[in-house]
Amino acid sequence: MTRDSYYITTPIYYVNDKPHLGHAYTSVACDVIARFMRLDGKKVKFLTGTDEHGQKVEKSAAAAGIPPQAFVDEVSQHFRHMGEVLELSNDDFIRTTEARHIRAAQALWKRLEDAGDIYLGSYAGWYSVRDEAYYAESELIDGKAPTGAPVEWVEEESYFFRLSKFQEPLLELYRTQPDFILPESRRNEVIRFVEGGLKDLSISRTTFSWGVTVPGNEKHIMYVWLDALANYLTAAGFPDIDGAHYQHFWPASLHMVGKDIVRFHAVYWPAFLMSAKLSLPERVFAHGWWTIEGEKMSKSLGNVVSPDHLVEKYGLDQTRYFLLREVPFGGDGNFSRQSMAERINADLANNIGNLAQRTLSMIAKNAEEKVPDPMLAGKRPQDVALLDLAQVTRADSLDSARDQIRRCKFHEMLGAIISMASAANEYVDREAPWKQRKENPDAMQATLYTLAEVLRCIGIMLQPFMPESASKLLDQLAVPAHARSFEHLRPEHALIPGTPLPKPQGIFPRIETDLAA
Ligand code: MSP
Repeated sequence: MTRDSYYITTPIYYVNDKPHLGHAYTSVACDVIARFMRLDGKKVKFLTGTDEHGQKVEKSAAAAGIPPQAFVDEVSQHFRHMGEVLELSNDDFIRTTEARHIRAAQALWKRLEDAGDIYLGSYAGWYSVRDEAYYAESELIDGKAPTGAPVEWVEEESYFFRLSKFQEPLLELYRTQPDFILPESRRNEVIRFVEGGLKDLSISRTTFSWGVTVPGNEKHIMYVWLDALANYLTAAGFPDIDGAHYQHFWPASLHMVGKDIVRFHAVYWPAFLMSAKLSLPERVFAHGWWTIEGEKMSKSLGNVVSPDHLVEKYGLDQTRYFLLREVPFGGDGNFSRQSMAERINADLANNIGNLAQRTLSMIAKNAEEKVPDPMLAGKRPQDVALLDLAQVTRADSLDSARDQIRRCKFHEMLGAIISMASAANEYVDREAPWKQRKENPDAMQATLYTLAEVLRCIGIMLQPFMPESASKLLDQLAVPAHARSFEHLRPEHALIPGTPLPKPQGIFPRIETDLAA
């Protein structure tokens, strides 16, 4: 069944740190999907926010010498600011210290308890505050977590969740819904982990206090991951499961996460939901990690790249484009100034930008600043062929883009748009409208019309990725704001000959190569 609603989430970010390229990456990817779905006629809910409880945050607040609440109030603002800088189109921003969330997290706990899946015991084992994760002895490598994070020995009274009970149901889930975890490599990794055997999970702590208290036992606070994962339900209106909002948006369509937190989302989370008898999300997608000029990004190396810096230096849309075009989503990527400048110049300035620039300036000079008239030259096969690449002429025309977005193949969808622009650039060279101007002005009108119409389609398709530049391009083609959804890619919404056009302006400036130095 295809739903008319689409609910997409970013991980909620720990407020122990300022936003960096990694956070921007997840958020931009979700923003592209949210914008795509809206343009495709879906009712979208796009959620992001901050993960504000737990030992890691408590320690950071202590190190800053500020009470935890004041600390999280401040750092959470940095993530809101990141959203503004990246022009994220999120519909909600959740903070786990909000009353609505504490209520939801406790209601989820009660459902797990009512199902008989929680019992009191005591935990003795390893815990990593940096990862906020428990590790089995057998997982440690040289006395550290597999992530390289330090671990400490913890022994305390703790509530447990009967995770072991869900081993078979989880394997069944991965089997029957092979797309539940993407990409394939992560799916295999999760299956191997679950097949290895699941132990019951410690879900409360007593040795610190910054968190949601366990209903009925004030001594305990909920494990920060149980608390954090519940955010996805909170924002959908849980525990009001009969409410319209929940009915409309739960289950989530996609939880986007980084590869480091796939276990929490693809193992613990569906197990909690199964126990609580709530529907499971449709998909968890785990993306790769970025290194910076070949090195791991870290405060100690001093190479942390902030979203503010990128946007200021390269431009917002250029940054968004680079992040999603440079590496196949799901794999790891390396950020370098050189590759950023090359990508922007090759694809944006020299290809799409150049196509727009030459088309619009030829129209301004030779077609009286109006949409040209293609009818004068009659129907020409070369125009039909190019338009067929760009317009939605058949019911299934958009299906490959839809599939690329659903499977997070951003680089492929962008690649298809770039090829369309390349095809149009080759067509200009072949048709040579500057020659047609003298030899056959009607043919020139047809050529320029076809190019303008292809640019209209490119502009519409680019909106999810580069909202500002796409809108500039569509403004220059005098496409009204209400005529920019995917529906309008159909030929009946094509540009109308004779429509006056504004003065052309460059859209994608070249990045000077000294910036790359
Ligand atoms: N608070 C948890 C998530 C809870 S969701 C219920 C968390 N927060 S985080 O701030 O540490 O990380 C948020 C996201 O940023 C993760 O998906 C992580 O993979 C991503 N990234 C952090 N560094 C990254 C890179 N260097 N590259 C790409 N993404 C990275 O985990």
